[in-house]
Amino acid sequence: MNKLYEEYYNKPSLKSARKRKNKHTEHIDFNAHINIKDVGQGKRYMIQTYGCQGNEADSETMKGILEALSFKETQREENADIIILNTCAIRENAENRVFGELGRLKKYKRENPDLILGIAGCMPQEESVVNRLLEKYQYVDLIFGTHNIHKLPEYIESALMNKERVVEVFSEEGSIIENMPKKREHHSKAWVNIMFGCDEFCTYCIVPYTRGKERSRDPKSIIEEVASLVKEGYKEVTLLGQNVNAYGRDFTDKTYTFANLLDDLGNIDMPRIRFTTSHPNDFDDETIEVLANYDNMMPHIHLPVQSGSNSVLKKMNRKYTKESYLELVRKIKKAIPDVALTTDIIVGFPSETEEDFLETLDLVEKCQFEGAFTFVFSARKGTPAASYKDNTPFSEKKERLMRLNKAINDGYKDGHLRFNGELVDVLVEGVSKKDDEILAGYTPHNKLINFAGPKSLIGTLQKVKVEEVKTWFMKGSLYEGTG
Ligand code: SAH
Ligand code: SF4
Ligand code: F3S
Repeated sequence: MNKLYEEYYNKPSLKSARKRKNKHTEHIDFNAHINIKDVGQGKRYMIQTYGCQGNEADSETMKGILEALSFKETQREENADIIILNTCAIRENAENRVFGELGRLKKYKRENPDLILGIAGCMPQEESVVNRLLEKYQYVDLIFGTHNIHKLPEYIESALMNKERVVEVFSEEGSIIENMPKKREHHSKAWVNIMFGCDEFCTYCIVPYTRGKERSRDPKSIIEEVASLVKEGYKEVTLLGQNVNAYGRDFTDKTYTFANLLDDLGNIDMPRIRFTTSHPNDFDDETIEVLANYDNMMPHIHLPVQSGSNSVLKKMNRKYTKESYLELVRKIKKAIPDVALTTDIIVGFPSETEEDFLETLDLVEKCQFEGAFTFVFSARKGTPAASYKDNTPFSEKKERLMRLNKAINDGYKDGHLRFNGELVDVLVEGVSKKDDEILAGYTPHNKLINFAGPKSLIGTLQKVKVEEVKTWFMKGSLYEGTG
């Protein structure tokens, strides 16, 4: 490797990413950084997004920044002057997909040597990934991480104008950058970050290393953002954080919790408020009470449980038990009787036995989840669980996943069945994937429903009668008098 380059690089370290500093979070305004406003004149960009909603929101920011620099978006790789992959590191197969994609994109780089190929998001936060990129993917021009999106204008300037390869990844970052431009992808739904990072350190998870320490946005900035989204005509916001229930825990100058935030947002004229993701250990009674109090708080809670076995939960560092999770579910269902619960589950955690797995199946049955993301454990380098002894064969883990999915799929169908024949509110999102004449939208419980209607209804809230239920979606008809 070229020595000069090596000196220029700023590479991450998982070890320093693990450190949590007690310093107060700085809130910085973005605008100061834009000083090359027309560098993208006549040029096109493409961003591919992998991973969670956090990454989707970050891609909207990158797009906003690129458009502020006068770039235009294209969906066609061959027309792009810059392609950025915003990546996810959560499981090995997520990373493999990205490496595969980099291989595929090489030909565009060959055809157009001026093309800037960039990689951003959670993967560059891992030292091993950056090393692999530097060794084997030397045609990647731009490598930056989750903490320095606001420096994109500078990076573009170096890569585009000075033809320099840019590698800058911060291991730790304490600041929150406000007022970055955003190009929102959806006409009626918006993501609103309420916090960044995660301090939970579940033993299998890479996120606390790739996203840094927990930092909450100022309530005033969040409330103003939601209020301005109302003015712009948005009908739904999803509050984002890796553990939204820990919101405010890092404030040193005030006591203000997630429940307080929901209480303030409940009074804003935003028709639908959702949030993700919740950590069962931090889900308090005040939050349940506020959720039950407001009509604009949607009755769907995604509450990742990960496992039903107490010994596995302990090894995962989840800090709750099967019993306390069931108790939380009981309290939520008592306060919000029609709530739809969904979850995340990992099977095949190191040393998970058949008995442990049966505990998970038992919990699934007791909670009546109406959906779940299920995964086979994937060892992530640098996390504690990567070095735990694991003697369950992969074939057995796959088999557990299949058994679990069967139980979960029954829940999807039951979750739909309870609305059969009912009138439901639907936020019309667009036309159905399969039929241009059919509209598609989501109910308050986050159920997908298709029905016939004019395209002019896209972006509005409508009443729809449920007429048929399938496992993955429902069918209905527009209720007379509301169209
Ligand atoms: N902050 C959220 C989501 C984190 S990532 C939460 O705490 O729930 C989304 C899901 O990916 C997790 O809930 C978990 O089920 C899964 N996951 C995370 N790390 C994993 C790993 N190493 N192997 C398999 N699944 C994993
Ligand atoms: Fe990962 Fe746990 Fe944090 Fe979720 S709460 S992001 S699973 S460490
Ligand atoms: Fe993936 Fe990073 Fe999100 S690892 S799940 S994109 S926080």
